[in-house]
Amino acid sequence: MNKFSRLGFIFAAAGSAVGLGNIWKFPYITGEYGGGAFVIVYLLCIVFIGLVVFIAESYLGQTSEANVSSTFVKLSKSKNSNWKYSGFMVFGGLIILSFYSVVLGWILNYIFISFASLPESSELAGSYFNSLVSEKIELQIFFHTIIALITIFIVLRGVKEGIEKINLILMPLLGIILFGLLIYAVNLDSFSKSVEFMFSANWNKIDENALLAALGQAFFTLSLGIGTIITYAASLPKNENFIKSSLYVAIVDTIIAIIAGLIIFAFLFEAGAESSAGPGLVFISLPVIFQQWGVLGNIIAIAFFTALLFAGITSAVSMIEPPLMLFIERFNMTRKKAVVICGSIFYSLGIIALLSMSNSFKDSLTFFGKNAFDWMDFLTSSISMPIAAIMTCIFLGYFVDKNKMRDKFTQHAPKIVFDIWYFLVKYLVPFAIAILLLNKIGVIK
Ligand code: PFF
Ligand code: NA
Repeated sequence: MNKFSRLGFIFAAAGSAVGLGNIWKFPYITGEYGGGAFVIVYLLCIVFIGLVVFIAESYLGQTSEANVSSTFVKLSKSKNSNWKYSGFMVFGGLIILSFYSVVLGWILNYIFISFASLPESSELAGSYFNSLVSEKIELQIFFHTIIALITIFIVLRGVKEGIEKINLILMPLLGIILFGLLIYAVNLDSFSKSVEFMFSANWNKIDENALLAALGQAFFTLSLGIGTIITYAASLPKNENFIKSSLYVAIVDTIIAIIAGLIIFAFLFEAGAESSAGPGLVFISLPVIFQQWGVLGNIIAIAFFTALLFAGITSAVSMIEPPLMLFIERFNMTRKKAVVICGSIFYSLGIIALLSMSNSFKDSLTFFGKNAFDWMDFLTSSISMPIAAIMTCIFLGYFVDKNKMRDKFTQHAPKIVFDIWYFLVKYLVPFAIAILLLNKIGVIK
């Protein structure tokens, strides 16, 4: 099998982790929950839950060197073949990819309008975005198709030639663009306000919803619960330190989220705009601000949306790789055939997702009060990802040979690291995620 190089793995895993979750979602939920206090809660979730599951998935993949489904069978103490059903989680990736690709399509569209003309007022920006989503079906399909083709083209070339290469190119570019934007933001008067917003704790908006949002975000942002990290770690060379690389990825992901937040809030405050605009933050609030800055604003807008695009593409390829590896290994498929099948699934689901927001089709694509787009998000972020994560923890805590795990951990870290990790994986993390899950499905409120 074609393995990553050591740096290749870290870049690819960081490329998967850093995505729309960091630059689009993290800032807007931080805004909605009032800033600093939410950031603290989020950081705690990253360290005690996200990182723990990340290390768990890395351990599984690096040890099994196999697809998700075979990983669980191979590593279970009893080699129980029923563990093969754990492969269900890879379909979560295809579902996320379908609507993620639609959103990346919007971003591509915004890169184009950044060259030409940005909306001149909040009303115009709002109606532009709304009409894109609710009326311009062909345009959305066009951009979704481009994103799907880019994703397919990269993964067709395989782990090393496709995924590793694209990450080694796009991640440094992303870093450079964000650094440039940060320099610009630091020089704005409102940068200090942004720092204050992100780091001074205001606890009155922190309720159970904030806790759940922070936990869910910690999961999504680290690409957990769909088999991505297991699959990537299966291509991590055997003797590499999986604990250290997990830590690096979590640190990079967190730093990028914080930097994105600092940049975006500095921009917003500079224009006196609201921090709590929700999902429309980057598609409605920011374009108006860029517009006020003239030609420089166009350049900043292009840089900003290009950063989002690069971050998103490297995440997109990581969502399709787990089902590809599973199909290739378990059903003896060629990569090409697996790509055609998985590609058609997410491409068609993406079209359903975008149609479900359009005026013409939303009625027929809304079920129990949620449109198909929201269902796809709900079924993954709120259902399949937490279930997969609970299962992964329970598997490691109760069904895997503890001595073997301890041996592998202690090759790379002091024993105390293993003890703490094992305790968290066995008791705290499954419990915390179960509460999240029960809450999301409305069993407890
Ligand atoms: N971590 C990505 C982000 O923050 O945008 C999203 C993601 C990628 C989720 C890959 C799940 C996944 F497997
Ligand atoms: Na992320």
